[in-house]
Amino acid sequence: MDPTFSAPRGVGGEYVPPSDKSITHRSLMLGALCSGTSRISRPLMTGDCVSTRRCLERLGCVFETEGPGAVVVRGVGVRGFREPRGVLDAENSGTTTRLLAGLLAGLPLFAVLTGDDSLLGRPMGRVVEPLRQMGARIEARDGGRFAPLAFLPGDGNLRPLSCSLAVPSAQVKSSLMLAALRAEGPSRIGGKIHSRDHTERMLRALGVGLETGREEIVISPAPQLSPFETTVPGDISSAAFFIAAALISGREILVKGCGVNPTRIGFLSAVKRMGAVVDVREEQSALGEPVGSIKVRGGSLSGTRIEAEEVPELIDEIPLLAVLGMFAKGVTVVRGAEELRVKESDRLAMIGRMAESLGARIELAPDGFSVEGPQKLRPGVVDPHEDHRIAMAAAVAACGIPGQVTVKGFECAAVSYPDFVADYRALGGAVA
Ligand code: S3P
Repeated sequence: MDPTFSAPRGVGGEYVPPSDKSITHRSLMLGALCSGTSRISRPLMTGDCVSTRRCLERLGCVFETEGPGAVVVRGVGVRGFREPRGVLDAENSGTTTRLLAGLLAGLPLFAVLTGDDSLLGRPMGRVVEPLRQMGARIEARDGGRFAPLAFLPGDGNLRPLSCSLAVPSAQVKSSLMLAALRAEGPSRIGGKIHSRDHTERMLRALGVGLETGREEIVISPAPQLSPFETTVPGDISSAAFFIAAALISGREILVKGCGVNPTRIGFLSAVKRMGAVVDVREEQSALGEPVGSIKVRGGSLSGTRIEAEEVPELIDEIPLLAVLGMFAKGVTVVRGAEELRVKESDRLAMIGRMAESLGARIELAPDGFSVEGPQKLRPGVVDPHEDHRIAMAAAVAACGIPGQVTVKGFECAAVSYPDFVADYRALGGAVA
C-alpha cells in the first residue's frame, strides 16, 4: 500500500487517539502474572501488542475478547508460565522482547525468543547481562548481544539485582523490574533511570513494594499479584502526529482521553517552546496513569533545542520534531539522541532520507540533527523502510507541502496506529 497524503485545508479538530502501546504491553504482561482474571478495556490490539499476546498465549495464558474493546486475561501467576512448544516470535517489537526476557529469566523452562530482521539487529546485551547477574542462564547470538535469545531452565528464583543503567531505556528498566519480582530480596536499579515510568506506576498500583528516588529504584519481590481492571489511555506518541499536523496547518486540535504521564509529554514542552499554545487537563487516572485532554493551538513556530536529559521524554516523537523544525523559523537542534540509531530502524538516518525525498535540508550528527527553517518542501515519495514512525511523520509533512506526499509500504503504521489513514481523513486531510 503506497497511499498519497495531502492536506490543502490543513488538519485539526477534535479526536480520540488509539490506545497506548506501552501501557497495553504492560497490562497484558501484568495480567499474565496475576493469580486470577484481569480485565483490560481498550487495549491496542494490533502489531506489537499482538506479538506480546501471542507470546504470552504460547506460555500458557488465556486471553478472551469481551464485548467491544475489552480483553480478559487469565493470569498464571509470577512463576506459572509453561514451557512453550515452539519458538516465541516478538516480530518487530523491542518492548515485547526486552520485557519478556525479564519475565522468562530463571524460570524452570526452556524458551527461545526471536523476531524479524529489524529486531535481530537491536541491542539485547543491555538486558541479557543484568539478568545473567541475577543468575538467569541466557544464551544469545554474537556473544549475548543480539536475539535470538535462549532461556535455559532455572529454579524460578533469581538473586537480587544491584545495577546501574548505562542507557535511559524504559524497556531495559522494566525488564529488570519484572525479573526482580522473583528475586530473593529487594533489587536496586540505579544509573539512567529517568525514562517512561509506566511499569513503576502499574506495579505500585498492584501493591508491589517499589520506591523511586532521584538516584535509584528499590523494588521488593512479589510472590503473588492480585488481578486488576483497567482502561488503557490514548497514546500521546500517536496523538503527537496530529498535534504536529495541526501546528503545521496553523489550526487547533483537541485530543481527548489521552495519557498525560509526565515522563511521556516532553513533546508538548518542546512544541510549547516552539510557540504553540498547549493546555493539558488531567481528568482521571487508570492503574496509576494520569489521563486527560490536550488542546494545542499553533501560531508562528520557531526553532528549539533538545538536549540529552529531555530525550527520554520525547524519544518516539523526534522524527516529528525534525518535520516541525523544517517549517519553524530558526534552528531546531536535537542532541543526545543516539538511541535513535537502534530503534526499529536507524531513525536518524531515516529522518535524513525522508528530508531528502521532500527536498528539505537537515544536518545529521551521530546523536541528533540540526535543521534550519522555514524551508519550502516539495511533493515527493518517501520510503520509510517499514519504520512506522517515519511513515507517519512523512504523512504529517504533507500538511505543509502544496502537493502530495506518497509513502511506500504505509501498512507498517499499523504497528502502533492502525487507523491513521481514517483519522487523517476525519481531521481534514486527504488520502488517495
Ligand atoms: C518503550 C520504550 C522506549 C520507546 C518504545 C517503547 C516502552 O524504548 O522508544 O517505543 O514501552 O518501554 P526505550 O526505553 O528502550 O528507549
